[in-house]
Amino acid sequence: MESLAERERRALCATYRRNPVNLVSGGGCWVETDDGRRLLDLVGGIAVNVLGHCHPEVVAAAQGQLSRLMHTSNLYYNLPQVELAERLAASAFSGRAFLCNSGAEANEAAIKIARKWGQRHREGAHTIITLEGAFHGRTLATLAATGNAHYSAPFEPMPPGFRQLPRGELAAVEAALTDRTSPAVAVLVEPIQGESGVFPLGEGYLRGLRDLCDRHDALLILDEVQTGMARTGNWWAYQEVGAVPDLMTSAKGLGGGLPLGAVLVSERADVLEAGDHGSTFGGNPVACAAGAAVFDVIRRDRLWERAATAGDQFREGLEGLARSGLPISQVRGRGLLLGVGLSRPIAAEVSAAALAQGVLVNAIGKETLRLAPPLVISDDEVEVALEALGSAIGAAVAAAPA
Ligand SMILES: Cc1ncc(COP(=O)(O)O)c(C=O)c1O
Repeated sequence: MESLAERERRALCATYRRNPVNLVSGGGCWVETDDGRRLLDLVGGIAVNVLGHCHPEVVAAAQGQLSRLMHTSNLYYNLPQVELAERLAASAFSGRAFLCNSGAEANEAAIKIARKWGQRHREGAHTIITLEGAFHGRTLATLAATGNAHYSAPFEPMPPGFRQLPRGELAAVEAALTDRTSPAVAVLVEPIQGESGVFPLGEGYLRGLRDLCDRHDALLILDEVQTGMARTGNWWAYQEVGAVPDLMTSAKGLGGGLPLGAVLVSERADVLEAGDHGSTFGGNPVACAAGAAVFDVIRRDRLWERAATAGDQFREGLEGLARSGLPISQVRGRGLLLGVGLSRPIAAEVSAAALAQGVLVNAIGKETLRLAPPLVISDDEVEVALEALGSAIGAAVAAAPA
């Protein structure tokens, strides 16, 4: 019989490198394969499944809305959108939301808002500063913002209006904000760079960016698509630092597994008017109902605390594995967004060995493992994960040529 991989090869564009496993069901931190294996999920849909798989309250909220009204368009009022947006602002800062379906779309919206704000308040300044190592999405503008040739080279030319600077250098940002020929209107950064290997920007640097944006009348845009929804030990990563953005983008965990994105717009940056922007599915009522339930469960169960505690347990365990002689050079990140730096280029092999051990873990590049498990992970599950990771790293070391 033809395998799923063969059918997929004929049916789908070859954009994804699949791990050799077909996931068919899940609950909590566990997923099941079509051949009956149970796997502990440290990938969490790449930071999407904040409440784990098929959380009953999220499922009930989505199903309730699904059977009442699935879609209406944005020509009409939509209570689930308002309920979601109220919760988003209550968790972050006072402002209004534009709702969409993904992280890239949320960043696109933020870029458009910054450009309009520049036309209105900064004599047409439109350049947006981003950082080396960033990831902001796969649309053309967000690829330009990402500024990584690995993703963008086949699709040149990129839209103009982005300027990429080295991470950590405030003087370079100040120079770009005050450039005489093309002063920048906004700075767009992730508080912790996720896709490039989980690199926190540093508290002083983030506060410095806020200060520079204030002094030079520019907007600070924080991309919290990966860091948000309580994953790093606060509702939003910026809250650890106190550098409140003018615009904040969110997606991934926002819909708890359904496609949902948002940009939260402070009063200062709020320039969108009717007709400026839109999306057919943006703020779909089923996704918003699920998202509102995600907010309610996180708040009730104080899951930011759970993320911090479980993150500490992972960190201590991983540091213990490093002391035992495994090639772990660094544990980066906060809460349950962790990057495990390996001192040998065996990340893919570790991920494959972990799968054989019954654990899903994501390899980024050759030397980093990313952990972004559901925030509901228990102490015992963290221990299971650590033991499997230790064995997997050991197996990859044993199999790799010295
Ligand atoms: C920080 C960040 N921004 C934006 C995106 C793009 O999100 P999406 O894939 O939903 O478009 C991602 C996805 O990994 C991300 O990590």
